[in-house]
Amino acid sequence: VTAPARVARLEWDSRHFGVEVGRLEGGADGLAEALADAARGGLRLVIARVEAAEPGGVARLEAHGFGLADTLVRYERAPAPPPPVRARTVRVRPATPEDAAAVEALAAEAFEGYPGHFRHDPRLDPRRADEVYVRWAVNACREAGEEAWLGLAEAGPRPVGFGLVTRAAADTAEGALYAVARAARGRGIGGALLAATMDWAAARGFARMTVYSSLANPPAHRVWLAAGFAPAGGLHTLHAWLDRR
Ligand SMILES: CC(C)(COP(=O)(O)OP(=O)(O)OC[C@H]1O[C@@H](n2cnc3c(N)ncnc32)[C@H](O)[C@@H]1OP(=O)(O)O)[C@@H](O)C(=O)NCCC(=O)NCCS
Repeated sequence: VTAPARVARLEWDSRHFGVEVGRLEGGADGLAEALADAARGGLRLVIARVEAAEPGGVARLEAHGFGLADTLVRYERAPAPPPPVRARTVRVRPATPEDAAAVEALAAEAFEGYPGHFRHDPRLDPRRADEVYVRWAVNACREAGEEAWLGLAEAGPRPVGFGLVTRAAADTAEGALYAVARAARGRGIGGALLAATMDWAAARGFARMTVYSSLANPPAHRVWLAAGFAPAGGLHTLHAWLDRR
């Protein structure tokens, strides 16, 4: 039995966008009531995720005013054995809080115009949409902790990219965020970062590693496929603006 639908306010996102944002949780029952409650509580944007394989999932949300904002493809494989690394001169080391400025600059460049669900929503500030990923990377750099690892790729004197892996479930690590400086792309650095995050996952005993990427972002899919990841489903992201009803 799934819990009835409810909307949970997203503190960080609401502050970041200057718009009251919530996330739809629970099952299909009570959706209209949950949205009415959210509107009464002052929420304006509600974000919902549905498994691509869920029958009628998108149509059900569309009937309540949601529109498709993005589709993510999920890829999976075991984190070991490691994939071959093409970029032989690159070194990936753990990032430290002192690397925050370098990570911020790399993320600002890599995620400018990133085609995610925030960017695809014309009612959100596009610069703020890109900044979501920048803030995420910088926060991970400052406070990686036990449940996440941020690797920094160096090829010569400067960092050229980073990769973030986090614990998604007891047996699953998720490759969450990867970025390579524009001038350094296409040389296998993305692949080397993915391999380094897989090493972390394997050393931590995770049986499975998962990575996601938007249908609108083909370079990332090429990196996952080259490392032996296989498609394993997907997620649709939908947005509903409550003041339009
Ligand atoms: C996705 C990303 C990290 C890949 O980094 P990368 O160092 O270019 O990755 P690789 O060189 O290992 O692989 C890139 C693939 O694109 C191909 N490619 C060729 N020329 C390229 C170029 N100029 N730019 C990008 N990719 C190129 C490569 O051949 C490779 O495919 P292959 O392995 O089948 O040959 C990088 O494009 C990036 O930072 N993008 C913006 C942020 C992003 O989308 N992150 C991923 C989701 S979080």
